[in-house]
Amino acid sequence: MTSFPSFSVRVFALLLLTLGGLEAQCGMQLYAQHCAACHGERGRGDGPAARFLDPKPRDFQSGHFRFVSTDNGVPSDTDILEAISAGLPGSAMLGFTQLTPPERIRLVDYVRVLRRAGIRERLAGTGLEGDALEAEVFALDTPGALVRPAAETPDTMESRARGALHWTRLCASCHGDNGRGVFDPLRITAEGHLVQPRDLTRGVMKSGHEAERLWQRVRCGIPGTPMPKLTAKELDDDALWDLLHHLQSLVPAGRQALHDPLRWTIGVPRLAGALPTDPADERFNGVSATWIALAPMQAHTPNVNGVMLQAAHDGEHVVLRIQYADRTFNAAGVPGAPDGVAVRLTSAARPPVLPLPGMPLPVDRALWLAGAKPAPDDPIFEHLVPRFENPDSVCKSPIGPEHVGKAAWRDGLWTVLMLVKPERAGRLSVGGTMPLSLAVFDGATARGPLPGAFSHWQTLRFLP
Ligand code: HEC
Ligand code: HEC
Repeated sequence: MTSFPSFSVRVFALLLLTLGGLEAQCGMQLYAQHCAACHGERGRGDGPAARFLDPKPRDFQSGHFRFVSTDNGVPSDTDILEAISAGLPGSAMLGFTQLTPPERIRLVDYVRVLRRAGIRERLAGTGLEGDALEAEVFALDTPGALVRPAAETPDTMESRARGALHWTRLCASCHGDNGRGVFDPLRITAEGHLVQPRDLTRGVMKSGHEAERLWQRVRCGIPGTPMPKLTAKELDDDALWDLLHHLQSLVPAGRQALHDPLRWTIGVPRLAGALPTDPADERFNGVSATWIALAPMQAHTPNVNGVMLQAAHDGEHVVLRIQYADRTFNAAGVPGAPDGVAVRLTSAARPPVLPLPGMPLPVDRALWLAGAKPAPDDPIFEHLVPRFENPDSVCKSPIGPEHVGKAAWRDGLWTVLMLVKPERAGRLSVGGTMPLSLAVFDGATARGPLPGAFSHWQTLRFLP
């Protein structure tokens, strides 16, 4: 695997400038640090990470924003702000709650700058120039009227039954009778990438479960995808409420929490005596566990949705017990790629979601791969040292006794133990915090040496 050739040095220069002093960064600096890795320096959706992602990062210049609330398909500032704040669950787009509200608003403005640059470029050759050109760019980037739901009709069995008929007529060809989605390889986005109606019964709604958002999905469609918009002529307001009552009965709202890659502060207690080196150690029974939902790199191949994480410390080392469901066992010697988990700890106050190779970020990394020894010349793996080698699902660290790990797979459940001594990420201190993120490699669906899903940065808080 080659590294990231198209990433310009200018972005790195900006990153170097910005990683230290975090006060009052302008929209462009924030964008370079937190967004460009995926969306590209100019917002064309072509950042160095983009080729590994499905769905692809949005191309801001193409103009096809998906989760819009306006009658002309131009995103409002609120639409963009919501995508940045809450993320788009079911994709690699996380919610940037680590940025302050004013910073997120600066990013909204910068996303609009990029969007307008795309419009300006498309208008080249129309003969428009100067003020006339700018006026036209502005007009094309002006959001239309907000689309709001009509007064809700009662959610009765009769309403749902009528809604089911509308569903069969208007939605089932793509979403299936049961909402699980019908796969069709010919369904592509305006940018030419595969897009499928997700399995809505998993409960993941990229733009939220609120009736207002669902109403907008149907009335505004999802521009740039095959999902059409329906006018009041095609389906009147009362009928749309019937349809939404049926849809809501198919889509369990509470499940979104299982898939939403949120950020948590995780208390890390101090254990007396030597830290556990066996994942089955009974002392883990007294350590609370946190569900960490993961964002998929490749949403079209089912993957690991999240992990249960437990953490403890001894003043110097952190022991992590990571448990996750994975029906297929993959390890070295078994065809396909090995299963694995990568963990990063950092001392940076606000690390970017996707730090790129070469970024000046003080991180300790630990990688466990089930029984596998990665190719020595692979830069991605190089990037993730230290690695654990694991002939019998028991990992040994090649770099000394400070980093050890052990893992077991039983009845579709991986239990992985990692003992890490932070060095670059700084020393542990009681009351202090340290950001941690993790990524899971799923051998069964891997398409190259990259993880299938990754977490947001979590905060470990060390307890006495
Ligand atoms: C790890 C990759 C990644 C990073 C980092 C990232 N995005 Fe995204 N972003 C995506 C992907 C993927 C999508 C498209 C998801 C989809 O279509 O389901 C997206 C979509 C969007 C959208 C489109 C919303 C719409 O309605 O179409 C906006 C706006 C956006 N991102 C803004 C940002 C901003 C601002 C940042 C930085 C603070 C950022 N993103 C960082 C991956 C990323
Ligand atoms: C021609 C195919 C097609 C039809 C017909 C269709 N959809 Fe979709 N729908 C899609 C695709 C594709 C997506 C996923 C888009 C994405 O994630 O980028 C989607 C996504 C959705 C979502 C998820 C929105 C979110 O926030 O994540 C909802 C809700 C939805 N559709 C409802 C409906 C309803 C209701 C109907 C019938 C009125 C319908 N769709 C008809 C293709 C279709």
